[in-house]
Amino acid sequence: MNQTKTLHLQPDANGIARAAALLAEGAQVAFPTETVYGLGADARNGQAVAGIYAAKGRPSFNPLIVHVPDVDAARALVEWTDTADRLASAFWPGALTLVLPLARGHGLSSLVTAGLETVAVRVPHHPTAQALLHAAQMPVAAPSANVSGRISPTTAQHVLDGLSGRIAAVLDDGPCPVGVESTILSLAGLPTLLRPGGLPAEAIEAALGTPVSRDAGDAITAPGQLASHYAPGAPVRLNATSAQAGEVLLGFGKVTGDMTLSASGDLAEAAATLFDALHRLDRTGKPIAVAPIPQTGLGAAINDRLKRAAAPR
Ligand code: TXA
Ligand code: MG
Repeated sequence: MNQTKTLHLQPDANGIARAAALLAEGAQVAFPTETVYGLGADARNGQAVAGIYAAKGRPSFNPLIVHVPDVDAARALVEWTDTADRLASAFWPGALTLVLPLARGHGLSSLVTAGLETVAVRVPHHPTAQALLHAAQMPVAAPSANVSGRISPTTAQHVLDGLSGRIAAVLDDGPCPVGVESTILSLAGLPTLLRPGGLPAEAIEAALGTPVSRDAGDAITAPGQLASHYAPGAPVRLNATSAQAGEVLLGFGKVTGDMTLSASGDLAEAAATLFDALHRLDRTGKPIAVAPIPQTGLGAAINDRLKRAAAPR
């Protein structure tokens, strides 16, 4: 693809206006959310969306999440339900993505949905994401702003490391506070967890008063959930309590390593640190060993990403 100079924009009024204008022109712009940096484009414009796939080198059958500023904007795109309403009241804006049937007259490019009858929608909480969505006045399709198959970006520098010269701009507002992608829940049938993420499934179950299914069935429901994903260049070994010869160790709690996800064993801190730690350890070129992480709360999302980072490829 053509080389362009990637603008490094500040999250002030000028930067937001510039980013919104670029989106209106059909360009691809990376922006921060509370989970990870997204690579945004006008979700109504097929060419703009195609530019996301081109920049990421992503297989085009993966549907994308559509970002909107508020519930009303989401309701223009999907068949809204009482369950969606309850979850949106509890968790939007925030790290929850809902998959719902497309509304009539939704106006989205079929590239965004990859031809499915459903679409994933999210209202992010991050002030810069909110400012951009309000300024742009369009639904913004955005996967994580990394080269396909690589570690998700939680800083603007991570974005530039992978996509500099391939996208129009990055809006830089520092590190993402949550650090793992949003939780994806399908409401197209019975509530089903498609991807554990920044909102623990336990919180969703508490709000609904019922358990959610964790059995997403076959790949059609979550085509982006390839076994090997979020992967550093070097091999990754899980549940390690010490480093073997040549390895670097990523610690947690009592397991101290060359770096730690959280010395105090705090899962929110570990989620926020995860991708930056993997980016840093990846740069050592050495195999990476990772301490055990409990499977509760945010631990489910952390272990999901680690399992994919460690999967054979
Ligand atoms: O935190 C996040 O969710 C970030 C930020 C930028 O919002 N976005 C993100 O997008 O992680 P991405 O493209 O890396 O992951 C989107 C996931 C994929 O696994 C995809 O298969 C799933 O959402 N998805 C999208 N639309 C879907 C649909 N209609 N049905 C089922 N899964 C869908
Ligand atoms: Mg991704």
